[in-house]
Amino acid sequence: MTTAPKNGRKLGILGAGGVGSATAYAAMLRGTADEIVIYDIATERAIAEALDISHGSMFAHEATVIGGSDVELLRDCDLIIVTAGARQQPGQPRLELAAANVRIFESMLPPIMEVAPNATLMIVTNPCDVLAVVAQKITGLPTERCFASGTVLDSSRLRWLIADRADVSMRSVHANIIGEHGDSEFPVWTAANIGMVPIDEWTKGGEIIFTPEVKEELALEAMQAAYRIIEGKGSTNYAIGISAARIAEAILKGQRAVLPVSTQINGRYGIEGDAALSLPSIVSYGGVEQVLEIPLGDEEIEKLQKSAAAINNSLKQIGF
Ligand code: 2OP
Repeated sequence: MTTAPKNGRKLGILGAGGVGSATAYAAMLRGTADEIVIYDIATERAIAEALDISHGSMFAHEATVIGGSDVELLRDCDLIIVTAGARQQPGQPRLELAAANVRIFESMLPPIMEVAPNATLMIVTNPCDVLAVVAQKITGLPTERCFASGTVLDSSRLRWLIADRADVSMRSVHANIIGEHGDSEFPVWTAANIGMVPIDEWTKGGEIIFTPEVKEELALEAMQAAYRIIEGKGSTNYAIGISAARIAEAILKGQRAVLPVSTQINGRYGIEGDAALSLPSIVSYGGVEQVLEIPLGDEEIEKLQKSAAAINNSLKQIGF
């Protein structure tokens, strides 16, 4: 899809588990799409999730929300968000899920692309960077129309942490995490600011508060957030759901929004291979329409290359 959807915006969500249903719920609340399809081989679960969301839609944006296991339901979707697959166990790195989820993708994606050949795919299933490359190879979609939600969620976590520490609105914090959506992700501190004040110069009570130690602590807390939540409730779903809905809006409404989504960036910053990584990108009708050239210091480029190596290594291990 490179122009506005013709008959209203149709969003498909693969997977009716915690993440898929949270994504559908967030999309209904935000008015992301006119039609939302929750697809899962667990027919009754998909139908029940769609019904439960539909019953509240009069209090939000009236969207048609349907669920089921018939691939026909996904016909002519403009965007399909993939959340189906094995999920992290407590303490388990996302990259360890690659092999199991490749097999699910290999059987699930081809019939879906038959009925929705013009859909853009957004991969949320982890490891999302690796699986965005796998999905692109399986479907043959152009890389701009087969990408991963990446570090949009991690950047939101970091902004929440910074806002809390600085006692300002999250919306006044401008900071991004880039690279792998996983253990090698990192904030671009050199570009972080609060209301145009560079983060390193932000003071509270006359004191600089984002010292190197504090920045290290916040980066670690953002990276480890999912592990912490999984320990407590078994999985994450709300923040990833609303992050995916936010990205979906940029595509379905042609917003040309800058978001740190994950696409194959071969050749940039000295990175070779097929690794998909998160960098601030313009997201709109055509998917990831442009990956921005952001100024990175030597240390940041080195960290990005480390992220790329982790993802390329995972791709090699699963034969992609
Ligand atoms: C997270 O970080 C699910 O990977 C996702 O919560």
